[in-house]
Amino acid sequence: MQARPKIQSMSNHASHRFTLTTPLYYVNAIPHIGSAYTTMAADALARFKCLQGYEVRLITGTDEHGQKIQRTAQLKGIPPQEYCDTIAASFAALWEQLGIQADRFIRTTEAGHQKIVADFFQRVWEQDDIYLDRQQGWYCVACEEFKEERELLESGACPIHTNLKAEWRDEQNYFFRLSRYQAQLEQLYRERPSFVQPPSRRNEVMSFIEQGLKDFSISRVNVDWGIPLPCDPSHTIYVWFDALLGYVTALLDPEAPPSLEKAIALGWPANLHLLGKDILRFHGIYWPAMLLSAGLPLPERLFVHGFLTKDGQKMGKSLGNTLDPFDLVNRYGADAVRYYFLKEIEFGRDGDFSEHRFVTVLNADLANDLGNLLNRTLGMAHKYCGGQVPTLDPNQVDPTHPLKAIALSLPERVTAAYDACRIDLACNAILSLIRASNKYIDDSAPWSLFKQGQQSAVEEVIFSVLESVRLAAYLLSPIIGNLSAAIYQQLGFGNHGSETTGFREGGSFAQQTQWGQLPAHQSLSKPQPIFTRLELPSQPSIQILESP
Ligand code: MSP
Repeated sequence: MQARPKIQSMSNHASHRFTLTTPLYYVNAIPHIGSAYTTMAADALARFKCLQGYEVRLITGTDEHGQKIQRTAQLKGIPPQEYCDTIAASFAALWEQLGIQADRFIRTTEAGHQKIVADFFQRVWEQDDIYLDRQQGWYCVACEEFKEERELLESGACPIHTNLKAEWRDEQNYFFRLSRYQAQLEQLYRERPSFVQPPSRRNEVMSFIEQGLKDFSISRVNVDWGIPLPCDPSHTIYVWFDALLGYVTALLDPEAPPSLEKAIALGWPANLHLLGKDILRFHGIYWPAMLLSAGLPLPERLFVHGFLTKDGQKMGKSLGNTLDPFDLVNRYGADAVRYYFLKEIEFGRDGDFSEHRFVTVLNADLANDLGNLLNRTLGMAHKYCGGQVPTLDPNQVDPTHPLKAIALSLPERVTAAYDACRIDLACNAILSLIRASNKYIDDSAPWSLFKQGQQSAVEEVIFSVLESVRLAAYLLSPIIGNLSAAIYQQLGFGNHGSETTGFREGGSFAQQTQWGQLPAHQSLSKPQPIFTRLELPSQPSIQILESP
């Protein structure tokens, strides 16, 4: 996958910047396909924003403190930092293999983060929003969250981590006065209806707030693997209070002397947090309240996606029912994996994975609809047009032309879909142009037109199909960058989508999405399959990750 242009220095104009985050992943096990899912989506959204000319900053990273990590390292008999280093490296390696370009990979154990947390804590402390009290309740270590008794299953486990009993806790903790922010959060959700999307998730948060917010504990006495509480080092900071602040630490260069003020000045608030539905309460309630207390602006928007499931249950490290993303990507390649998950599962809803479906969708969309279309049209261009893009004034083509008509409105529809984080809808809109192109070739039969000596009609068909493939490849480049680059190359653009500028090279988004960009007389490559058909395995072959 080509690199997005590197950000040298972020411009001072917030309107030209776009900062988006993935959650910071727990390092209790090597990454699984669920963690890859959010990060692939974030990367595709980042690449689309980049095409539009934004200075994009994609933040991801790892959440390394807390009891869950402490216990896992203990079980493995490895010092926690050493353990975190190994797992964090495997996340970074997976992102690389999936063509994900993180502008900043923040680790909550990096030195500067502790200072940001301390600065933030101080601000909240000065607001008198922190106090010491007794905490009693059921704690799910896998969620790192206290649960109400009514939320637990009969077995005593939480509904997400059904194989792990919640543990009873009775200890002195420092609390954050969440209840004080009840009215402000209600106002936030009233006044900013798109703060949390999709709307069903917004409703979920609002009804939680309406039940009345309770203060929550932000320190632990029995967990050494954490940041010491500035006002009482016999406690460590609750892992969620620490981790959410990773989004702010990430704004700083890891080498720079850390301070909350400096980090904020480098471009807070973020434009978009992407997260799964299990961590909505933390992001939709705790995080805004913490920021309000510290007098800091709130993120612009949160988009909440569903779970990848296996037999209806959330795939996860704790349940040990998840797919190995390394295996998937080694077997099928980054573009295939990205395309399947981003196109086939509605972003915002749950989606089940089946290898059968995976192979079928990729063969249908990428090998047949897109790959064959390019292949056969290039073949005809060589046969009937001397291997060059035909000369045609695209402005002379009637706007009701079956492909031009779709292509004229496509950029707007695709932009709206990406803006709404509905990458699946963007893919489907682009596919409609590809499918219409296949139909258009079949209907207009250029091979017969050629025999009848209707050269200009042949050229109109070839041009409009190749131009449609170009436009589709351009708009799909945030998702399947390698395939898009291969298509551009075969269309004669040389090393388009090069290392430094990616698909921004050919001009602005507005220019490149205009119908008719293919330069007349451009030499076309000999057709070569861009996507090899996948074989359906006789039985499921993708490796399942074991429980840690
Ligand atoms: N460490 C916290 C996040 C802190 S953010 C400041 C955490 N980590 S996690 O590794 O457990 O989960 C990270 C993200 O992965 C969450 O958004 C979660 O929803 C997502 N996924 C984990 N399993 C998933 C699926 N099976 N399907 C889709 N996403 C899933 O929570």
